[in-house]
Amino acid sequence: MQILECHKLQKIYGSGASAVQALREVSTGFAQGEICAVRGPSGSGKSTLLHILGGLEYPTAGKVFYRGADLFAYNDNQLSILRRRRFGFVFQAYNLVQELTAYENILLPVLLDRRKPDKKHVSMLVEMLGIGDRLDHLPSALSGGQQQRVAIARALANKPAILFADEPTGNLDGKSGREVLALLKYASRELGVTLVLVTHDLHIAEQAERIITLEDGAITHDSGQRGAGHES
Ligand SMILES: Nc1ncnc2c1ncn2[C@@H]1O[C@H](COP(=O)(O)OP(=O)(O)OP(=O)(O)O)[C@@H](O)[C@H]1O
Ligand SMILES: [Mg+2]
Repeated sequence: MQILECHKLQKIYGSGASAVQALREVSTGFAQGEICAVRGPSGSGKSTLLHILGGLEYPTAGKVFYRGADLFAYNDNQLSILRRRRFGFVFQAYNLVQELTAYENILLPVLLDRRKPDKKHVSMLVEMLGIGDRLDHLPSALSGGQQQRVAIARALANKPAILFADEPTGNLDGKSGREVLALLKYASRELGVTLVLVTHDLHIAEQAERIITLEDGAITHDSGQRGAGHES
């Protein structure tokens, strides 16, 4: 079974003459542990798709299934619990809390969930991401690449099943961007996390094992899943 599936997703913003159809009947699925890039021109619906797959936004029509369960059949509270426990998010703008240190930022989602942090797991993430000597710093004292690593550690602190990343390298120079991407891929492999990575950059997308291309709200190309077509 696919860990995440969507069926005929539609999203229309606004109404009447100003209505924008951001997604037109998008159907696809993601296997556990898969690293998939979603690319396409600006305005093609990449962020919209990511937000709906991650339960951050409701579709106008269509469904998303996480391990076979209909995401939007949950009430708001159930959906936010599922999001907090099973999904991780990384955005272009890092979105760290400026008043908290790097370490506090990493622990924040676990603490918000009123759970005890798994210190061993967090230390492992910190080491994997190479931010051990930056944990007491405020975000303002960190480089963009370091802030994004903190954001990745935060997104993985809850041991999510799926990591959604929207242009995670968009604010970084080429070198830090490549480093952050390599870390995302490494983390996904090591932890068996499914990675859905939105980028408009073909060079970044080509680092993924699968590339979905969106154009004008529809999938126009899908390089396909590993082993697709063979029953395993
Ligand atoms: N909240 C919103 N209200 C109205 N229109 C929206 C909203 N969010 C997105 N759109 C429109 O939906 C379409 C898809 O937007 P989306 O942000 O998903 O594109 P994108 O592929 O992520 O683009 P980019 O590469 O620039 O980030 C665009 O036409 C956009 O203007
Ligand atoms: Mg976008």
